[in-house]
Amino acid sequence: MKGDIADAALVKGLLARCDAVVNFAAESHVDRSILDSTECFETNVRGTLVLLEAARQAKVARFLHVSTDEVYGDMAPDKWAVETSPLHPSSPYAASKASAEMLVMAYQHTYGVPAVITRASNNYGPYQFPEKFMPLMIANALDRKPLPVYGDGRQERDWIHVEDHCRAIDLVLRGGRTGEVYNIGYGEPRANLDVLHTLLELLDRPASLIQYVTDRPGHDRRYALRSDKITRELGWRPEHSFEDGLRSTAAWYQSHGEWIARVRGGEYREYYERHYQRRDETLSGVGKP
Ligand code: TYD
Repeated sequence: MKGDIADAALVKGLLARCDAVVNFAAESHVDRSILDSTECFETNVRGTLVLLEAARQAKVARFLHVSTDEVYGDMAPDKWAVETSPLHPSSPYAASKASAEMLVMAYQHTYGVPAVITRASNNYGPYQFPEKFMPLMIANALDRKPLPVYGDGRQERDWIHVEDHCRAIDLVLRGGRTGEVYNIGYGEPRANLDVLHTLLELLDRPASLIQYVTDRPGHDRRYALRSDKITRELGWRPEHSFEDGLRSTAAWYQSHGEWIARVRGGEYREYYERHYQRRDETLSGVGKP
């Protein structure tokens, strides 16, 4: 804790002239958190604590914490998460994000840090690092490489375009009520395999590229959240339809081959090799006994 306070003092200097803090910073990949949860905890929990402490000391007027629908955990087929639903994080990543939220709420409650939390569903769009489902599948498909689908591929995610997410964050930053949580989702969970087949059609690649691989340990089956609160209070609605968003995203990666090649160098290659090419060996050490 001493170290955190010292770090906070440093950050406080940087925050002195800031109107607001928007905490996007996170180790955001579930698979990496499963392979090693330490960095996830350091960045997502300890990092949030440092920022909160600095914001408290600098008396920042607004602290928006960007969280995730993963804090709700696996949703049964007929269930939808609302802001008051219980938190049941499954992965080390989700647990770190839920922990960070608890700190944000505690700082708001105890010290009066004017905080607000957003929980968004899976993002997609340009410039997403290709360790995530959407850019990984597009980049591999463009190269005609195997598309590694975890388990049966029937897991469902509620995809939201990154620009819709950012617009929601801007609205909450300006008009969200302090101490509140706002869900941000598209509202239509889709099975991974269905998304993948649409992508393959858009990219004109065959379904034979799909390769079923060992499932992610503890894999949540379904995320689904309701965003009525942000619509009601701040007038937000997604503007990118899923179909158009997917089309423009696929086209963006098609025309940004150099960017993909650059970010897939070095450390990414090592990660890919360990996590995909030696998947069973790598996961045999982390699964349930
Ligand atoms: P991901 O992009 O990692 O987001 P999250 O785990 O936060 O939802 O994964 C989205 C879905 O795609 C999830 O159900 C896991 C699955 N998936 C695969 O089937 N293969 C992959 O190579 C990756 C990265 C994800």
